Amino acid sequence: MMSQGLVIMSYVIASILFILSLSGLSHQETARRGNYFGMAGMAIAILATAFSGSVTSYTILVIALLIGAFIGTKAAIKVEMTQMPELVALMHSLVGMAAVLVGYANFIDSSNGLQGIEKTIHEVEIYIGIFIGAVTFSGSVIAFGKLCGKLSGKPILLPARHWLNLGLLIATVWLGEVFLTGTETGGGTFALILMTLIALAFGVHMVMAIGGADMPVVVSMLNSYSGWAAAATGFMLGNDLLIVTGALVGSSGAILSYIMCRAMNRHFLSVIAGGFGSVSTKATAVEGDVSPINIDETSQLLQDAKNIMIIPGYGMAVAQAQHTVNEITKLLRSQGKTVRFGIHPVAGRMPGHMNVLLAEAKVPYDIVFEMDEINEDFPSIDVSVVIGANDIVNPSALDDPNSPIAGMPVLECWKSATTIILKRSMAAGYAGVGNPLFVHENTRMLFGDANESMQAILKALKA
Ligand code: TAP
Repeated sequence: MMSQGLVIMSYVIASILFILSLSGLSHQETARRGNYFGMAGMAIAILATAFSGSVTSYTILVIALLIGAFIGTKAAIKVEMTQMPELVALMHSLVGMAAVLVGYANFIDSSNGLQGIEKTIHEVEIYIGIFIGAVTFSGSVIAFGKLCGKLSGKPILLPARHWLNLGLLIATVWLGEVFLTGTETGGGTFALILMTLIALAFGVHMVMAIGGADMPVVVSMLNSYSGWAAAATGFMLGNDLLIVTGALVGSSGAILSYIMCRAMNRHFLSVIAGGFGSVSTKATAVEGDVSPINIDETSQLLQDAKNIMIIPGYGMAVAQAQHTVNEITKLLRSQGKTVRFGIHPVAGRMPGHMNVLLAEAKVPYDIVFEMDEINEDFPSIDVSVVIGANDIVNPSALDDPNSPIAGMPVLECWKSATTIILKRSMAAGYAGVGNPLFVHENTRMLFGDANESMQAILKALKA
């Protein structure tokens, strides 16, 4: 058994490692190190908690750890990179559920011996913890359903939804008072259960109202909520490390949501209120002729180009084309051409999705640029190669106020001399909107699976 001093020291070390982990994860070059810090911090946290003397049954703890480790390992091995956001949403729901369960366990357990103001504070912690946990749980389950296509991605808007949200919030506050008064005489259970149901409905309603291209913000917002739920659990259990860790996750998730909102030109406050980005009715239909291109023509255009920009999107992840893309990049660079990558902040299906894939394929970091860094360079680009991207290069985001993605900054590749788009069909992307770029006069469509097309281009370039 560890002494109290040693436990506290371990918690401090774990907290520092978590902070180092977050700072490491903010840059691609240091992300791997950040992960190691996180793993070390979590190992120390688990060991210190297990040997802190607060564990009453090691059998139950070991069984729970084994089940958790088994499920976690299996999921990590099985899950595809493209399913990551769903997995993350599912994990958030577990954090929310844990907060609810711990809250109820604390409420039922009357052995804590707290009296007076301390008892009231503890009950407030329980109430708030269960509320945040339940919102996180149901919101994350709905986000999971939407991301994996089990639920429609379209926003479902109830009439007077903001009033409904306000009503639910007022009811929660009122029930809080009923709960606190009730606990004085040994009651309060009914108010707590009713509040839990309201919080569950609130989570469902909030995420249901958010649709299409705005889902990334929801995922990082739920990430933030799950952090606050963990912090609330820390307060209930009197565990300082859980409070610190929860606050770190909560605030970093909130900062990420804010950054994403800015990248997508959305207002942070309207995200929290739910139902944002869903005002528009229907986008203007796309009309015009498509100009297809074949492999030989594509490789000829690349041979003739000096300045090339590659824009990867979700389709590159689906096709797993990143390794072939890297081979082509190496070849073109060895011929003295300038090849750069333009990354949209919400390309793919999770924050940093494209960066992860390009790093995996060993594309050099110094030719990978964020949208803001290169968007002005397109007029000097000879060929832009759009690999399985759609929404992030949709000009209607800028010039069609009726578009569901209106206002979202996009990569302005149509300003380059020629844009080649690799995709399998004329199908819409995640936001479900038509893309006038496909019929733009400078655009050529290369139809087919992105990896197969890229391999054929590589072969043609080498011939
Ligand atoms: P999307 O707009 O979803 O477009 C992807 C395109 O890839 C599709 O139009 C599809 O067309 C094509 N594609 C799919 N499989 C392919 C394959 N094997 N080979 C070639 N092409 C393939 O992707 P995007 O441009 O990257 O934009 C991301 C969207 O997802 C945004 O709307 C964003 O808001 C949303 N989103 C992002 C995140 C984060 S955090 N990044 C999370 C959730 C949602 P075909 O079917 O015709 O091939």
